[in-house]
Amino acid sequence: MTRVSVALAACLVIPLLAVQAQYRYVSGNGTASSCNDGYSNATAPTPSYSSFAYTQTQVRQTATRASTFTSTPTYAAHYSSLSSLAPQVSTSTYGNWQSGGSPVGTSTGFEPYGTAAWTSLWQFANPVNFTRGIYSTTVAPTPVATAELVKPDPLYFGPTDCRQFPEGFMWGVAGSAGQLEGAVADEGKGPNALDVSSSEVPSFVDNFSADENYYLYRQDIERLAAMGIKYYSFSISWSRIFPFTEVGSPLNAAGLAHYDDLIDVCLQNGIAPVVTLAHLDTPLPVWKGNNTDRARRGEFGGFTNGGYYRDDFVDSFVQYGKTIMAHFADRVPIWVTFNEPWPVTTNAQAAYNVIRSHAELYHYYHDVLNGTGSVTYKSGGPLGIPLDPTNATHVDASCRYNDFYTGVFANPIYLGQDYPDAYKETVKDYVPLNQSDLEYFKGTADLFAINIYSANLVEPIDPSSGRTAAQCISNKTDPGWPYCTSTTTLTETGWQTGYKSQSASPYSAPRLTRTAFNYLWNTYKTPMILMEFGFPVFGEAEKDLDAQRYDTPRSEFLLSVMSELLAAIWEDGIDLRGAFAWSLLDNWEFGSFAPHFGMQTVNRTTQERAYKRSFFDFVDFFQARVPQQ
Ligand SMILES: *[C@@H]1O[C@H](CO)[C@@H](O)[C@H](O)[C@H]1NC(C)=O
Ligand SMILES: *[C@@H]1O[C@H](CO)[C@@H](O)[C@H](O)[C@H]1NC(C)=O
Ligand SMILES: *[C@@H]1O[C@H](CO)[C@@H](O)[C@H](O)[C@H]1NC(C)=O
Ligand SMILES: *[C@@H]1O[C@H](CO)[C@@H](O)[C@H](O)[C@H]1NC(C)=O
Ligand SMILES: *[C@@H]1O[C@H](CO)[C@@H](O)[C@H](O)[C@H]1NC(C)=O
Ligand SMILES: *[C@@H]1O[C@H](CO)[C@@H](O)[C@H](O)[C@H]1NC(C)=O
Ligand SMILES: *[C@@H]1O[C@H](CO)[C@@H](O)[C@H](O)[C@H]1NC(C)=O
Ligand SMILES: *[C@@H]1O[C@H](CO)[C@@H](O)[C@H](O)[C@H]1NC(C)=O
Ligand SMILES: *[C@@H]1O[C@H](CO)[C@@H](O)[C@H](O)[C@H]1NC(C)=O
Ligand SMILES: *[C@@H]1O[C@H](CO)[C@@H](O)[C@H](O)[C@H]1NC(C)=O
Repeated sequence: MTRVSVALAACLVIPLLAVQAQYRYVSGNGTASSCNDGYSNATAPTPSYSSFAYTQTQVRQTATRASTFTSTPTYAAHYSSLSSLAPQVSTSTYGNWQSGGSPVGTSTGFEPYGTAAWTSLWQFANPVNFTRGIYSTTVAPTPVATAELVKPDPLYFGPTDCRQFPEGFMWGVAGSAGQLEGAVADEGKGPNALDVSSSEVPSFVDNFSADENYYLYRQDIERLAAMGIKYYSFSISWSRIFPFTEVGSPLNAAGLAHYDDLIDVCLQNGIAPVVTLAHLDTPLPVWKGNNTDRARRGEFGGFTNGGYYRDDFVDSFVQYGKTIMAHFADRVPIWVTFNEPWPVTTNAQAAYNVIRSHAELYHYYHDVLNGTGSVTYKSGGPLGIPLDPTNATHVDASCRYNDFYTGVFANPIYLGQDYPDAYKETVKDYVPLNQSDLEYFKGTADLFAINIYSANLVEPIDPSSGRTAAQCISNKTDPGWPYCTSTTTLTETGWQTGYKSQSASPYSAPRLTRTAFNYLWNTYKTPMILMEFGFPVFGEAEKDLDAQRYDTPRSEFLLSVMSELLAAIWEDGIDLRGAFAWSLLDNWEFGSFAPHFGMQTVNRTTQERAYKRSFFDFVDFFQARVPQQ
């Protein structure tokens, strides 16, 4: 069978009509929308004078604080009853690493995981231009001044729908440890892939302080609660918990205590914590590996391979995940094992290890801890959408693209099905899945979680390149491998999919988000949750503070996506359970502070935060449309 017929067959599980129906081509000159405001019958306006007085009124409203929980929701037994089911590990403390000296603070490490061994991890990491931030201890929260909580005037144009989100719809904000925390070498944390990338990728600028959220988390949560936020999705730093990573190595007590308190502070403020275990921050010992690993690493694309392919990855990650789940399962409603594993797709062993360790943690959570919350992983976007949905070769190319982005993990995890055929034909050393593997993997995610920032319009590989798809697929060094398709954000009408933002996926695509939801829902048939969506306003970092705060393009993007979510729920029949905006703060975007994704600004000198208007627009939209929680 040729690849095309195989891929087309795979695509037939998707009801194409449902996907295409939203994007009919309508030709003609277009007509202005009809209106009847009482003036439309008049033939011409009539000038007139009146007595003049300044009559404008200023509406002054403030944000509504999140209500606290009447009783703390629980999702499993307390750790005291689960401790015998957790990995049996010793705890240690290590203090703060000093470049060129011994660590400062208490250290209780035991051999071979003593203070010297911990220090040598950092010496090996050798972070370039290492600096510490302003804070060195947890800052006590202070109430947000009412003046900061005053809403901006309503947007001139905005959603006018009357739809409600279903009861229990989860909405909130998202961030990740490596992008917010700072304090990278403090309180026993070991180095991870993000901490060392500055020494490997010259353009990867990092001063290791990010938003200093490790010390400012109580204040940051206070600021979320003051705005009415109901859910906070954050990630735990694996190397803060297990600096040495390997099975049997000690648990860093200070790291565990930090997240324990973070979760409690969320709950005290009426905010439900959503926990991600891995967000591109594999600890150095796994990521860096031995010399053999290092030689292989280049082959898989730098830091993004995450060390996931290593033999010891599954056991180390599962030890970490079980430890965290056992300690926090009582209080956490949603668990995310991996954020966006797609960069490791092309390494067959890495892809397999992701699926295996994810499934082991799912079974541990539900079958051993008897957790009643949800376990999932975050699929990455942008998804592929056919450039011309009426052209079968475009649909085929788009399905192939999505098979690589999502199908390699999602087929086994959601459907208990083998990797997509397109994958097996391209990554020929794929780890075979037998029947018992597939049964073990099937249904090991309670939600289909997806991060969507934009969309890629897909068509077959460009013939003018002189290559064919078949040549590309069999040629690992082809620049288009493994997707072997062409992608664009320029639609057939000659317009971009949306406003240009400042990121690698430069055009937003709020309407296409709904198409992506239809594809995923009808393919994987699992309740969905939008785990990240956000928007870096072009050039925002160069504006002065007040201009940054008046971020209309971000508001428009968020409101457009949220309106599309309502349409997906009401018109397309999609069971959509929640949406989290990326991000609560402008943060470190893997090598730069310039792309601003935050709904709050951060002063890079003082770490002072300020709300942007998008934060108010985001909250207002949900508060008006989610039944009282
Ligand atoms: C569009 O407008 C042009 C010029 O006014 C006219 O000739 C043409 O018939 C119109 N097309 C349609 C489909 O209405
Ligand atoms: C405008 O014209 C329509 C049709 O003749 C009529 O029904 C309507 O009442 C008019 N509206 C006003 C404001 O005069
Ligand atoms: C961190 O980097 C940012 C952006 O380059 C800079 O504005 C800030 O001052 C730096 N902070 C420290 C503590 O070096
Ligand atoms: C480190 O600092 C030097 C001097 O300021 C600068 O030239 C260099 O680009 C910095 N390197 C990184 C990776 O930040
Ligand atoms: C390097 O680590 C890998 C695990 O990914 C292991 O299979 C291999 O044996 C190690 N090589 C040496 C020389 O230690
Ligand atoms: C989980 O449920 C099983 C079956 O009901 C039971 O045997 C086991 O003791 C429970 N474990 C915990 C930690 O509650
Ligand atoms: C379908 O797309 C292919 C590749 O872009 C193109 O060559 C072909 O002409 C298109 N077919 C139709 C019917 O538009
Ligand atoms: C399936 O493969 C796994 C390893 O991936 C192996 O442990 C298991 O024994 C295999 N099961 C069967 C029935 O072959
Ligand atoms: C594979 O792709 C590389 C990079 O484009 C190219 O140089 C090479 O000729 C291709 N090999 C074959 C067999 O097509
Ligand atoms: C950051 O804070 C400092 C000190 O208050 C101030 O001088 C500077 O203008 C602020 N930066 C921005 C971008 O507002």
